[in-house]
Amino acid sequence: MIGPRFPNYGSLFALWSVVWSVSALDTFIAAVYEHAVILPNRTETPVSKEDALLLMNKNIDVLENAVQLAAKQGAHIIVTPEDGIYGWVFTRETIYPYLEDIPDPEVNWIPCRDPQRFGHTPVQERLSCLAKDNSIYIVANIGDKKPCNAHDPQCPADGHYQHNTNVVFDSEGKLVARYHKYNLFAPEIQFDFPKDSELVAFETPFGKFGLFTCFDIFSHDPAVVVVDDLGVDSVLYPAAWYNTLPLLSAVPFHSAWARAMRVNLLAANTHNTSMHMTGSGIYAPEAVRVFHYDMETESGQLLLAELRARPRLEPTFPASVDWSAYAQSVKLSSCEQSNFPGMIYFDKFTFTELKKDTGNYTVCQKDLCCHLTYRMSEKRMDEAYALGVFDGLHTVEGQYYLQICTLLKCQTTDLKTCGEPVGSAFTKFEEFSLSGTFGTSYVFPQMALSGSQLASERHYEVSRDGRLRSRSGASLPVLVSALYGRVFEKDPPRLGQGPGKLQ
Ligand SMILES: *[C@@H]1O[C@H](CO)[C@@H](O)[C@H](O)[C@H]1NC(C)=O
Ligand SMILES: *[C@@H]1O[C@H](CO)[C@@H](O)[C@H](O)[C@H]1NC(C)=O
Ligand SMILES: *[C@@H]1O[C@H](CO)[C@@H](O)[C@H](O)[C@H]1NC(C)=O
Repeated sequence: MIGPRFPNYGSLFALWSVVWSVSALDTFIAAVYEHAVILPNRTETPVSKEDALLLMNKNIDVLENAVQLAAKQGAHIIVTPEDGIYGWVFTRETIYPYLEDIPDPEVNWIPCRDPQRFGHTPVQERLSCLAKDNSIYIVANIGDKKPCNAHDPQCPADGHYQHNTNVVFDSEGKLVARYHKYNLFAPEIQFDFPKDSELVAFETPFGKFGLFTCFDIFSHDPAVVVVDDLGVDSVLYPAAWYNTLPLLSAVPFHSAWARAMRVNLLAANTHNTSMHMTGSGIYAPEAVRVFHYDMETESGQLLLAELRARPRLEPTFPASVDWSAYAQSVKLSSCEQSNFPGMIYFDKFTFTELKKDTGNYTVCQKDLCCHLTYRMSEKRMDEAYALGVFDGLHTVEGQYYLQICTLLKCQTTDLKTCGEPVGSAFTKFEEFSLSGTFGTSYVFPQMALSGSQLASERHYEVSRDGRLRSRSGASLPVLVSALYGRVFEKDPPRLGQGPGKLQ
């Protein structure tokens, strides 16, 4: 499904503009729910459909509370997480009783009104009724099953496809969107890769929405295409994301993506501290509206924030950035420096240490040179910082091409620990400017401070010539700051497939 269809565009257009001017909203209330999923027991053999439904209803009971609470506070739409209704501990066989046949939204179906129309679909019925009874759009992630046969050479041996699927029910309970996750993450052995990438978007009185799922955020298809080609205002993003420091923590990464792509992003993560799953938020192009990160408790959390329905039309809409302009223009310095190798999430970076309290450094790998100018309030002897660069194909748990510049605190003063996770920092940066000679326009700028605190937009900015730099007056205990670039032209055909998987 690609947007609404107008069979007779001319005659409908006049009517549409009238309806539009009456009902269009300039802002809306967005809600996301970080859900501590009640997991089924691990089994070798599939449970009965009844037991599967029992477990799913336990999760929907929790989501129902969140939906009611959100609706009471005026929310127009709520996003719930990927795997939020049954969890992630499955094989292909054991997830089967949890799946339902999810029809194409073109069939125009309100499951709450007509529950039998597509067979036994109790989960869709319940979600539809929740949306209708609370007059709120609901985004959920469930499993779709689609029969196939020998005429289809790719049909799995058990005679059906199984897809990780997002569904959206509008405030009348109608199924308005269905999206099959295209870029499965390597461990998702319970699901099949869809043949083609689906671009899913739909119109509402509060803007145009697109959707995709978790690992898709690294992709060109569908993530970039939905934003750049379909022109959506907001992205609905269920995720089951485990934080991998220093560069892939949910809140800094997702907010950086929204900033770089210049869209609203409604990101709902699952919550499970032993899996490092936490970090949900509502992000506008110019600022983080609200976020939640909690490694202390095992509870879920509802977040609400007001967003602009069409951020492109607002004066606050950020200008586009030419990511290599500044770095290409400066004479890159390499004052007496010794580079050393280091690893971040299986990628071999080249680092150089920041040796003094002020300086200019450049460090290069392949086609990418990263440039840093900085001033610290003092150079502490008990902390080490490094400027790092990576230009290469990431090959573990998916293959995707990266160009990254990062300024980070090393775990200890032993430079071998640069790139390993670290929690706190005492060094204050009075000034810094990080830039790189990127060969891509897709660069996600992020910054975290001591205590893994997300840095506020008050403290730093991204200039149009591609510098991530402190605002004057800032004195920041920087933990990590990064320009995380994706070079889609150098990707293998699909992110999730190919050698180098962990499982
Ligand atoms: C998992 O197994 C335990 C022990 O048999 C049982 O008490 C519990 O209810 C089961 N949990 C689920 C979600 O089925
Ligand atoms: C978190 O996930 C792990 C791994 O799937 C599971 O064993 C554990 O029980 C979960 N924790 C909670 C509180 O559900
Ligand atoms: C760093 O470069 C800037 C110009 O880009 C220059 O003004 C400054 O003096 C340099 N600082 C150091 C410590 O080399």
